[in-house]
Order: sequence, then C-alpha cells, then structure tokens
Amino acid sequence: MSMAARKIGILTGGGDCAGLNAVIASIVRSGLRLGYEFVGIERGWEGLLEPIMVRPLALKDIQGISHLGGTILRTSNKGRFAAKVGAGENAPIDPDILAEAKRTLDKLGIEGLMVMGGDGSLSGALQLAELGVNIVGVPKTMDNDLSSTDQTFGFSTAVDVATEAIDRIHTTAASHDRVIIVECMGRHTGWVALHAGLAGGAHAILIPEQEFRVDDLIVFLRQRAATRRSAVLVVAEGVKIEGDIHTRSIGSSSEMLFGGVSAHLMREIDQRTPGEFEMRAVVLGHTQRGGSPNAEDRILAKKYGVAAMQAYDQGKFGYMVSLRGRTMHTVPIADAVRELKAVTPEVPEYQAAQGLGIFMG
Ligand code: F6P
Repeated sequence: MSMAARKIGILTGGGDCAGLNAVIASIVRSGLRLGYEFVGIERGWEGLLEPIMVRPLALKDIQGISHLGGTILRTSNKGRFAAKVGAGENAPIDPDILAEAKRTLDKLGIEGLMVMGGDGSLSGALQLAELGVNIVGVPKTMDNDLSSTDQTFGFSTAVDVATEAIDRIHTTAASHDRVIIVECMGRHTGWVALHAGLAGGAHAILIPEQEFRVDDLIVFLRQRAATRRSAVLVVAEGVKIEGDIHTRSIGSSSEMLFGGVSAHLMREIDQRTPGEFEMRAVVLGHTQRGGSPNAEDRILAKKYGVAAMQAYDQGKFGYMVSLRGRTMHTVPIADAVRELKAVTPEVPEYQAAQGLGIFMG
C-alpha cells in the first residue's frame, strides 16, 4: 500500500509584489522532488474561509510563471484575517475565524502552510501557528520594511521602476524649470524612496523616519535656484510634513491608506512661496508593484522558495526564511513581525545620499 503524499498549502497574502510567482514555482518545483504535493490557497487567507477557494498546484500549473508579475493565487490585503490595524498595531484575529481556517486545512488534508507575506500576513500566520498549524513564512513586500531579513523580494523591482521614473522626470523638470515631487510607496518606511532617490539622482529625499521642516526645504530650493531652477524631490508616501502623516481612509475600514502626500507638500511649499516655484506632483503608486520581477528579485525569490521548502522539510515551523548577506537563514516569525525595519542615518545608502549633499528629511 503506498502512503499518501504530504500535502502543503501555499498562500500569498497582503499587497502583491514582483517575485511572488517565482517563489510559488520554486517551492513547488523543489518540494515535488522531495515527494510533497501542493494546493494553492486563493485570495490570501480568505481562501481558507467560506466560500473556500483552492486550486491544485502541480508541475504543469507552475511551469513558465516565474518571470510573471502578480500572483497566480491572487491575494487580499483586507478581510477577516487582519492581524495588524492602523499604524501597525497588533490585532487578535477572531478565534472563530482562526478555528474555521484550521478546520478547512484539516478537511482538505493539508498538513501545513507556506505563507508569503509581509508584516500583516505573517502576524496572522503566527496566530494560526499558535493553534498548532505547521507554517513556514517567506518575507514578501515591496516596502522592504520587514525585520530580521536584509531584503524582501519585490523591493528591488520597485526601486528599478521608481528609478526609471525619476530619470524621466529629470528631463521634463529641467526643460520646464520645474520642481517635480515624485512620490514612492513604502507605507511607514522610506526604503524605496531612499534607494530610488539615490539611484535616480534626486535633489531631496524625504522619508517618514526623519523629521524635516518645510522652511528648510525652501531654503535649499532657493539656494539651488541661484544656478538651476529645476529640482526633483523624492518623497516616501508616509513622510511626515511638520510631524503630520498624510493618509486617506475608505469606508469604515481601519486600514490606513497612503498616497497623495506629494500634492500636500506641493501646496505647503506654494503657500509659503507664492508664485516662486512652478511645481508638479507625480504619484508612482502601483506601477512600482506590478509587472515582471527584475533579475535580482527572481533570484532572491528562487532562493527563498527553495530555502522555505528545505525549512519545512526540516520541520522548522513558526520560522521565516531570511537573507543575511547572500546566504539563506531561518528566523522565528515572531522576531520578524515585532517591529518594522526602519531607515536609520546609519544605513549606508542614507550616508551616501548625505555625503552627496542631497537634502535629507
Ligand atoms: O505594502 C505594500 C504597499 O504597496 C504599500 O507600499 C502601499 O501603501 C500599499 O501597499 C497600497 O495598498 P493597496 O494595494 O491596498 O492600495
């Protein structure tokens, strides 16, 4: 009598990013070689709740997907499994919801889960792991704000997209003698803005982690205007203007929605310097998340996928795969979600930007 293969569920949670399909494919490809079977959970955690949404993940389902953007499993960053709310406070998931998810796994004969997620989805994973579900995490987010790993997949592609946009903004800003404010994603951290701003030769980089005064920025722009009237300012969407964070909300959701701080900053500068600068604001938004992963993210995703499968096979449940230098490690998921990884003035890219005389805030 042959033994049934051990069945693992794969789930992508939270906002998508480039490289998700490459991780899915690598887990399946390397896991099939170890004799496992796979099921895809669709639309993140929602797929484990009624109405259940799953799909088979055989070799034919993952062939030729690694270079594609998005996630073939689809995802959700809202819903009944929210483990972080507002500015990232931990929220206990309804015990009935957790129990329902566990029942679904049992019903489908799934013995454990591979969860690709950022801070929110991995916090949810932790709560399910506490109920005894076998879980291995993979650090996903274009924001690069997850602790305990040097880099998340999706970040490098986002930086490439933003850098290309900044390059394009330079020529039109210079042609029109304009100050153009380019807004990058990143929620509460400024990793994308810092890296893209440095790569793209921004004149100012403004990130949430550092306070700055609008008046100081104006002094900087005026000094620059003595020789060049155009400037490119890169701002992270979560940047605080005079200590205030700019967010929107939709409906009754407790979710903080970012986007639009560049227009807000533009108005602030304009009010203090009427008619002095001709300005425009550009929000790069979801272009940074969509589309194919670059080579660095594909390689990172494949390394993460294989390492996650190995960790699972070794029974390292409740752990997340992590990158240190170029090497794969595992760290407790609890350590990774305790606090966000913030940009500090000690970060080498921050220091380089400062050394180049870029206005940093
Ligand atoms: O966390 C990833 C991210 O892209 C953030 O940078 C951004 O603020 C947020 O997701 C946007 O979320 P949504 O897809 O819900 O608009």
